[in-house]
Amino acid sequence: MRKKKSKKNKLIFLIILLIIMGLLVYFFAFKKDAKIEIRENVTINQNKKITIKDLVRSIENATIVNGNEEVDTSKIGNINVKIIIKDNYNKDKEYNTKVIVVDGDVPVINFKNKLTTELGVKIDLLDGVSAKDGDDDVKVSVEGEYDFNKSGEYKLYYIAKDDDGNVTKEEFTLIVGEKKQEQKNNSTGVVEHTKEDGEFTTSKGFKGYTKNGITYIDGFLVVNKTYALPSTYAPGLNSDVESKAKVMFDAANKEEGFNIYIVSGFRSYDTQKRLYNNYAARDGASSADVYSARPGHSEHQSGLAFDVCHNGYGCINSTFDNTPPAKWLAKNAYKYGFILRFPKNKTNETGYQYESWHFRYVGVELATKLYNDGNWISLEDYFGITSEYDY
Ligand code: DAL
Ligand code: ZN
Repeated sequence: MRKKKSKKNKLIFLIILLIIMGLLVYFFAFKKDAKIEIRENVTINQNKKITIKDLVRSIENATIVNGNEEVDTSKIGNINVKIIIKDNYNKDKEYNTKVIVVDGDVPVINFKNKLTTELGVKIDLLDGVSAKDGDDDVKVSVEGEYDFNKSGEYKLYYIAKDDDGNVTKEEFTLIVGEKKQEQKNNSTGVVEHTKEDGEFTTSKGFKGYTKNGITYIDGFLVVNKTYALPSTYAPGLNSDVESKAKVMFDAANKEEGFNIYIVSGFRSYDTQKRLYNNYAARDGASSADVYSARPGHSEHQSGLAFDVCHNGYGCINSTFDNTPPAKWLAKNAYKYGFILRFPKNKTNETGYQYESWHFRYVGVELATKLYNDGNWISLEDYFGITSEYDY
């Protein structure tokens, strides 16, 4: 009887021991403490959706009770948020964090990305520039360094900052160009378009200078749409040029039996003005500009150029093109120091259409270079200069 009882006690003891061990295993092996990492000071734009679980970076051994709850982001400012978790011991725990709601609208700047001025001429960089933040006007400021007295391209920024600290930065370029030619009214009331006296270097590295309104590049007088002559410049046809032309015509006449002659040599400013105005009245200025120089811009005024004619072969118009005398001149003029001043397909360089009849004296050396074995190079291309009106 006694033996039976002690056996029963042993069994109970064993069961209790097993239960205790089971509980220990349960607590130590499965019931771990909760581990949670919470985001602090999360910044979010106004009215953007964010839920409580978005504020928890990581969580272990627990679940978020209010994870799907949305944070109220309708008002700008700091919001205290409660995160409730349930751990493995089935216990609720509360954590607090802060969400910062900011104005999401960045200011929008209304501006031009390129501003241009002349050297020494100050302009208001904020003129016509505005910025809005929603419906509110926002002040704009300029960031970066620039100098109206130093030509160049300046990379600058417009900055607009709203009350909530949202900043918009927009890049723009300020171009401070070389001083433009001031219009000079001379005593006769003529508006001159000559360059200011001074020195310069062309894009192809040639040295140039303007003296008394006349421009020379590498020692050669240059007149085109960019470089004008003073209205008073009236040298007549250069006698050296005239005699060299005669030598050339004599050679042509001797070789081919031609009778080439100069139909228009020197033209004064006033003559050119009359011619140009007539053409402009007839065809419109933009058409006339392709074949007739504005007063002050004609090479004829330099006394170094002329137009030729040959009876029966057309005169100062395209009927002269490809005629035997035109071909002969295009092939031989360089030997006498003359260039075909407005070659074919070079309008974008010379500013003028092809003129098979207009020759300019530059001397044999340069003429030979420009002849280029019959593939004429324009004076503009050779020197690296433009031929464009700036008015
Ligand atoms: N026909 C040339 C371009 C002039 O008028 O000078
Ligand atoms: Zn001409």
